[in-house]
Amino acid sequence: MRKYYHFAFIILTIVGLLASCSQEEKKYRIGVSQCSDDIWRDKQNSELKIGAYFHDNVDLCFAAAYDSDERQIQQIDSLVGTGIDLLIVAPNQVSTISPAIDRAYDKGIPVIVFERKTNTKKYTAYMGADNYEMGHLMGEYVATRLDERGKIIEVMGLKGSSPAIERHNGFREAIAEHPGIQVVATLQGDWTEPTAYNTVKQWLEKNKGAEKIDLVFGMNDRTAMGARKAFDEAGGVLPLFCGIDGLPGENGGIRLVQDSLLDASYIYPTHGDQLLQLAVDILEGKPYEKETKLMSALVTQENARVLLMESEEIMRQSHNLEQLHEKASQYLDQLGNQRTLIFVALAAILLLLALLAGIYMYYLQRARIQDERMQMEREQLDFYTQVSHELRTPLSLIQGPLDQLLRTNDFRGASDEARELFSIVRRNTHHLTGIVNKMLDAQVGGTVTDGNAHIETQNLASPAPAGEIKPDEDAPTVLIVDDNVDIRTYLRSILQGQYRVLEAEDGKRGLELAREQVPDLIVSDVMMPVMNGLEFCQQVKKDGISSHIPVILLTARALEKHQIEGYESGADAYITKPFSPELLLARIDNLLHSRHQLKDLWATKSVAEAPAASAVPAVATPASIEDAFISRFKNLVEKRLADSNLSVEDLAAGMGLSRVQLYRKVKALTGSTPIDLLRKARLAQAQRLLQESTLSVSEIAYQVGFASPSYFTKCYKDEFGTVPGEARKT
Ligand code: FRU
Repeated sequence: MRKYYHFAFIILTIVGLLASCSQEEKKYRIGVSQCSDDIWRDKQNSELKIGAYFHDNVDLCFAAAYDSDERQIQQIDSLVGTGIDLLIVAPNQVSTISPAIDRAYDKGIPVIVFERKTNTKKYTAYMGADNYEMGHLMGEYVATRLDERGKIIEVMGLKGSSPAIERHNGFREAIAEHPGIQVVATLQGDWTEPTAYNTVKQWLEKNKGAEKIDLVFGMNDRTAMGARKAFDEAGGVLPLFCGIDGLPGENGGIRLVQDSLLDASYIYPTHGDQLLQLAVDILEGKPYEKETKLMSALVTQENARVLLMESEEIMRQSHNLEQLHEKASQYLDQLGNQRTLIFVALAAILLLLALLAGIYMYYLQRARIQDERMQMEREQLDFYTQVSHELRTPLSLIQGPLDQLLRTNDFRGASDEARELFSIVRRNTHHLTGIVNKMLDAQVGGTVTDGNAHIETQNLASPAPAGEIKPDEDAPTVLIVDDNVDIRTYLRSILQGQYRVLEAEDGKRGLELAREQVPDLIVSDVMMPVMNGLEFCQQVKKDGISSHIPVILLTARALEKHQIEGYESGADAYITKPFSPELLLARIDNLLHSRHQLKDLWATKSVAEAPAASAVPAVATPASIEDAFISRFKNLVEKRLADSNLSVEDLAAGMGLSRVQLYRKVKALTGSTPIDLLRKARLAQAQRLLQESTLSVSEIAYQVGFASPSYFTKCYKDEFGTVPGEARKT
């Protein structure tokens, strides 16, 4: 689980990093401090914004002081306080705003002064038109317009603001060149229309009936229009009005000139986009001009129409640009949202993957623990099986011989005390066997089988004790396979009264003997070196020569599952140690007997009529192996029975076996010897020929491989109880 948390942490870190990489680069905050708020400033502000569209990393903060020094100072300080990276300032008056500008500059913030000037040197760059030149050019225009003769009024801009001072100086210097032009009054305005209106109105009231005024120069278009309003109200012939700013749009100076409300104006350039570019250049450390002079032009009746068209086209384009930007920002917003969504989805997928990986790892670990537990259980079981084997084998070797001793006649003559002592030994051996079983049972939780129990409690008639009866030549052969020499000796002592006994010390040797000698039955241990009893049993059952031989597994492996393993390997019986000799003998007898029953069945039939091998082995030998063997043997005999010289050796060779192997295999399966079967096959064929052909008895005798007709007749009579001639008669 700890591994899982570690993994989840790594995934989250990756997601976090990805998310942080997607964050936008650092933005520049640019503070814009406007001294006033009017259509000229509006135009400039929107140009600044459009300029910012070309720079993703620029944020603009606007402030307007509404012509108040105090307010502008406050606003500059507060912009600086919010952590702007650059200050653009149009100072209300030349001297009043300087301290605030100095404070910003001293903090290391670059300062661009634009359009209006101050008396401080602490600024980074200046951008603006030449107001002196503008005033001068307007003076020249007025002189020309009035044909060098006339009376004029000048209405000033805000006192102390640099454009007002400079425009006045330029204007007056130009006028001074034209003596026919007389400045009747210089009135104080403040750039706003109402102030101009009031000032001019007052002057007109004061100078009622005085000389006629030919032209009024307002220092901006709003001032000129304020003056016009006052003159309009006063009545009489209106003078000409000239202003400055020449803005495009509905109430802009260009249209006022076009509509002949103003006689002329002068374009006072806003150039907000150019101003912003300068700011970005400064912020990005690019080269820039410290002083930038903006160009301007006179608007008169002659060019107003063209200028209006041009300016309106520019405004239209700006409007389009604004809309385009709007759309672009909408798309960017959507993109941002989608990106966020993708990150969230990605994070969710990664978390899900982490979760799945965690679950997978958890199950993997659980499976591993389970495997280990099972492995441990297996090892434990093996250990206890081993231990019980170790205990059961000597127990068998005490219990079995003791039982055998107690049954001998010799012992019946022993003293009561001796018999009692032997009884104690016997009882306690049985008791010990019980304890071993219980112990194994408790440790492995399985069922310990004791197939011998019912025998042990009985006092059966003793098996033939060793040496009492010698088995005759024809007695069945039993092969004992066990690595423990004592067990082999003990088993031999039990079996040798009734059976011929062969011994092998492991499965491999056992297999060799089984093939060579083809015993009638095998008793085998399971836990043996080289080749264990289970594999040995399998090999026996697989081999065509030995497949019919019944196998009894005699083992200390007492658990039910061991017994199942034994039967699965093809064993015919399973007896656990310590075992009862009676049980073993009964089992052997039983297995051999069930085979004999089958043999009798065969013996009554001729080979030619032999039934399919399905009825052949009663024991659990693979029927198909026996089927194949019998039918091969049958074919061989039938094919060659005409040969009177045919020997058992020939038949054995034909079957790919030795004489002994063939003899014992055929005998075990059919109860007859190969020679007997050959003879039976010949006689059966003869019987068929007698009934179905017209051949003479002698001819038939030769044809079925008898060397002499008289011997054929004898054999025929022995087999069928009648002479061959009888068969011919029917
Ligand atoms: C705008 C304005 C203009 C004028 C300029 C002088 O605030 O009053 O009309 O030309 O400022 O700075």
